[in-house]
Amino acid sequence: MKTLLKLNTSLYAGAGVSASLADEFVRAWKSGHPRSEVIARDLAADPVPHLTEERFGAFLARPADRTAAQQAAVDYSDGLVSELERADVIVLGLPMYNFGVPSTLKAYFDHVARAGVTFRYTANGSVGLLTGKKVYVLATRGGQYAGTPHDHETAYVRQFLGFLGLTDVEFVFAEGLAMGEEAKNAALARAKASIAELTREEWPVAA
Ligand SMILES: Cc1cc2nc3c(=O)[nH]c(=O)nc-3n(C[C@H](O)[C@H](O)[C@H](O)COP(=O)(O)O)c2cc1C
Repeated sequence: MKTLLKLNTSLYAGAGVSASLADEFVRAWKSGHPRSEVIARDLAADPVPHLTEERFGAFLARPADRTAAQQAAVDYSDGLVSELERADVIVLGLPMYNFGVPSTLKAYFDHVARAGVTFRYTANGSVGLLTGKKVYVLATRGGQYAGTPHDHETAYVRQFLGFLGLTDVEFVFAEGLAMGEEAKNAALARAKASIAELTREEWPVAA
């Protein structure tokens, strides 16, 4: 049985365009994996707090030395990490807000980058520990940036995921969503066609 983690980051929660593309992906993927498990995490409905000195200190404290508050912070982070560990496939709804990722996603990233848990340092540099998973990123934007030097978001997300060992990452872009109805409809149709193709590739051969 496969497990898919759906991570929504739109400030509109399930009503966001990126969230609806993520839903479309999950629906199509489920038809090829009927007995799969889907874990849904919505960062607007259930925001991850900012990383603070106290919280980061909890991650660094030796287990035996943790206070109750530190243990609670570690348990919370461990819960987020365990969803990533359980997932074979991760679907990330990713709007662009003010040229970057939603701040809720940055807070989430700050809680799942854990030395000794999701990555470790070696003499040859860092090694990501979340390996063998596939990530699909459904990236929605009002303007058009993909493939240009102005698209810092894609490079950042790819670098962060790769740092954790998530190197098999596929982006689907729906861009120009604020550039008129025609551009929006065409972009969404292209994104949905890509989703249909990618989820077909994911179907088990024997299904
Ligand atoms: C606060 C905010 C900031 C935005 N900033 C940008 C931006 O910098 N560049 C861009 O192309 N679109 C920008 N947009 C448009 C969104 O990227 C676009 O509407 C996207 O579809 C939102 O996805 P969502 O509906 O899943 O939240 C912004 C939208 C909001 C609400």
